[in-house]
Amino acid sequence: MSAALRVRAVRRADLPAVIALDATVTGLHKADYWQRIYRRYGVGGQGLRHFLVAEAGQRVLGFVIGEVRDWEFGQPPCGWVFAIDVDPRARQHGVGSALLAGLRERFERVGVRVMRTLLARDNTLILSFFRSQGMTAGRLIPLEIAIGPAR
Ligand SMILES: CC(C)(COP(=O)(O)OP(=O)(O)OC[C@H]1O[C@@H](n2cnc3c(N)ncnc32)[C@H](O)[C@@H]1OP(=O)(O)O)[C@@H](O)C(=O)NCCC(=O)NCCS
Repeated sequence: MSAALRVRAVRRADLPAVIALDATVTGLHKADYWQRIYRRYGVGGQGLRHFLVAEAGQRVLGFVIGEVRDWEFGQPPCGWVFAIDVDPRARQHGVGSALLAGLRERFERVGVRVMRTLLARDNTLILSFFRSQGMTAGRLIPLEIAIGPAR
């Protein structure tokens, strides 16, 4: 990557690139979903909801989405990382680190002192990434149960 890397708030014009990037990773073209995410995280947010993109030479290389949630699960304000994705062609050049740093900085600006995420146990790539950023197993554990009609 020769052009300078910049992390900034998403703009509506970035959505096609975000949708395409997500589709390369998940195999799903979820245009309606991304419009909803843009409305929830990309507009306003009062410094608590963030949808950031990393760009270089006007090309979107990745995105991160996160939010400050307070007093849920009985916990003081905490910055959640909900999603992070980097274009497979731009990986291992510091883009993911820059996105997470951008989100962390925005959480710190509003006084948050803990950043948290959830990940699939078998996703070693995302685990290696978060570990490289200094994140370790936290004090909370997720619990779940399948609900709905018995199969
Ligand atoms: C995880 C991800 C965001 C990392 O982005 P990236 O731009 O490649 O990350 P960086 O270049 O900043 O890498 C930072 C560190 O992460 C770790 N890392 C990154 N890619 C790795 C890989 N393929 N294998 C092992 N460790 C890796 C390394 O420790 C790396 O530090 P190093 O470069 O000094 O070795 C990117 O691989 C991605 O988008 N993966 C798919 C994410 C996904 O599944 N998202 C859906 C769930 S939210």
